[in-house]
Amino acid sequence: MNAQKTIRNFCIIAHIDHGKSTLADRMLMGTGAMDERTRKDQALDNMDLERERGITIKSSAVSVDHVYNGVNYELNFIDTPGHVDFHYEVSRALAACEGAILVVDATQGVEAQTVANLYKAVEADLEIIPVVNKIDLPSAEPEKRALQVEEVLGLDASDCIFTSAKTGVGVKELLDAICERFHPPTGDPDANLQALIFDAKYDDYRGVIVYFRMINGTMKKGDRIRMMGVKRTFYVTELGKFRPEMQPNTEPFVAGDVGYMVASIKTLEDVNIGDTITLDAHPADEPLAGYQEPQPMVFCDFYPSGETQFDDLREAIGKLHVNDASFTYEPTNSEALGSGFRCGFLGMLHMDIIQERLEREGDVQLVQTAPTVTYEILSRGKMGETETLYITNPADLPDPSKIIEIREPIVRAEIITPNTSIGDIMKLCEQRRGIYKQQKFLADDRQILEYDLPLAEIIYNFFDKLKSITSGYGTMDYHVIGFNKDNLAKMDILVNATKVEALSLIVHRDKAEYRGRHLLKRLKQEIDRHLFEIPLQAAIGGKIIARETIKSVGKNVTAKCYGGDVSRKRKLLEKQKAGKARMKKVGSVDIPQKAFMAVLDTGEG
Ligand code: GTP
Repeated sequence: MNAQKTIRNFCIIAHIDHGKSTLADRMLMGTGAMDERTRKDQALDNMDLERERGITIKSSAVSVDHVYNGVNYELNFIDTPGHVDFHYEVSRALAACEGAILVVDATQGVEAQTVANLYKAVEADLEIIPVVNKIDLPSAEPEKRALQVEEVLGLDASDCIFTSAKTGVGVKELLDAICERFHPPTGDPDANLQALIFDAKYDDYRGVIVYFRMINGTMKKGDRIRMMGVKRTFYVTELGKFRPEMQPNTEPFVAGDVGYMVASIKTLEDVNIGDTITLDAHPADEPLAGYQEPQPMVFCDFYPSGETQFDDLREAIGKLHVNDASFTYEPTNSEALGSGFRCGFLGMLHMDIIQERLEREGDVQLVQTAPTVTYEILSRGKMGETETLYITNPADLPDPSKIIEIREPIVRAEIITPNTSIGDIMKLCEQRRGIYKQQKFLADDRQILEYDLPLAEIIYNFFDKLKSITSGYGTMDYHVIGFNKDNLAKMDILVNATKVEALSLIVHRDKAEYRGRHLLKRLKQEIDRHLFEIPLQAAIGGKIIARETIKSVGKNVTAKCYGGDVSRKRKLLEKQKAGKARMKKVGSVDIPQKAFMAVLDTGEG
């Protein structure tokens, strides 16, 4: 049989925690790629951070074999993240597949990212197998959930496969269905090479390792390949598959195959996710469509701190960017904080993860400023003409006399909530300046609420509030729909009479005084007392709207280690030094990392 006919490329999509990674483990075991001895839970979540937090951050690809009706099939699948911030990872995975397994938790049913991810898979024209998972749980209602899949998602209830990723029930049936229902890849092995780069990783010894999906043509070790977008050529020194570890492969790769490639690529910029690989001697006429550029939603600055220098931070960011092209970065300079990078992320969790990965994988110490969104500013130019600017940092706002309008990004949010929490969710949305759109029926006990909300109001602990109101059952998905003008202004924060741009923020005027007072109270808690008194002020356009004072401490902190106990004194100084690693000196005041994040606490109920 033609080898291509027995390849199945698919991904696993679901709402967060519905069991994708555990199901992937079971499929690895069911196909012999992992056994009880080599087994580790969530095997494809190979980043420490993923295991600690119990979430998938990166999509992982793997190739396994499965015998169905006496024929050996090669299944290439990608486990994807479920959180809304990692939609981009999901879109990239979808583009490399012909099918998608949509996992729904038998106790929870359809949730916000179930709907969002299904739409993406349908848009990408993929065949879908719905799976109702966790059927071993006493509270599981598999038949009811299958009907919900039909009513809400429009997929046939009778197509659902019932599994327990915990016990392994239904996994063989699922593997069989994958071979039977998903189409094989259709590319032409004899055409000129076109391979899609869907991921990459930097390795200190081997350079950039490229993860690709063959669309057309054939590629083998020793080939001289060309990256069509960056127009650079390399010799392929190793080709292989993920089983799930990287395993070199001597056979040529043909249309439909998925694997990795090593080609002594030392320059990070030479590999672009979404770029097309072709043969230098017989290039394809056209590159593949590639990926849409990700749209960053929240921005913050990273500055080196402690022992870390600017160049160390630049190197760490560059390397991490190879592995996650969905964050953006550019050098920035702040009078108070020195040289650093302004970075853009797909959401708050994404920002958190990048900061932690930089510190762990890049071994750098950094200080991060509070996140903001992009604002659209209508202003008057030099000759009186109107111009539209986009700013991601309140410090870049033009002079107030030149500003005609400040417009903020608005998202359409779909919130799935238990009926009992509807009133409280509506109250929360209104508090956050939300505009009610509609309410839709989802199931007997659940509704979908649709609101338009300013993005800036969501990034400040909206998600936590939603979870606590609904006892963890509320879920949300959102996308940006445009910019709206509102009564917004920049609030400056002065620490010891010095304006600290990194603490300034754009606020709604109706909330400015409250936000200002609350922020100063939080700063007072976070900034240690110094040898002198520190006034804190919040101001809009030069008018002070709130003030606080941090009283002085008269004494040296080591003075209490009287009697020359050197080791105790040293310990105390070392503790202080460690604390300073995530601290920045602004004028003569030490501002700790926590103070920069104080703006996230809005004080709103
Ligand atoms: P993200 O990658 O973070 O989106 O989550 P995920 O969809 O990969 O979920 P994961 O596999 O991490 O599972 C979430 C939790 O559900 C874990 O505690 C699993 O042990 C548990 N779980 C997954 N499948 C089953 C199942 O079939 N039965 C039971 N009882 N628990 C399950």
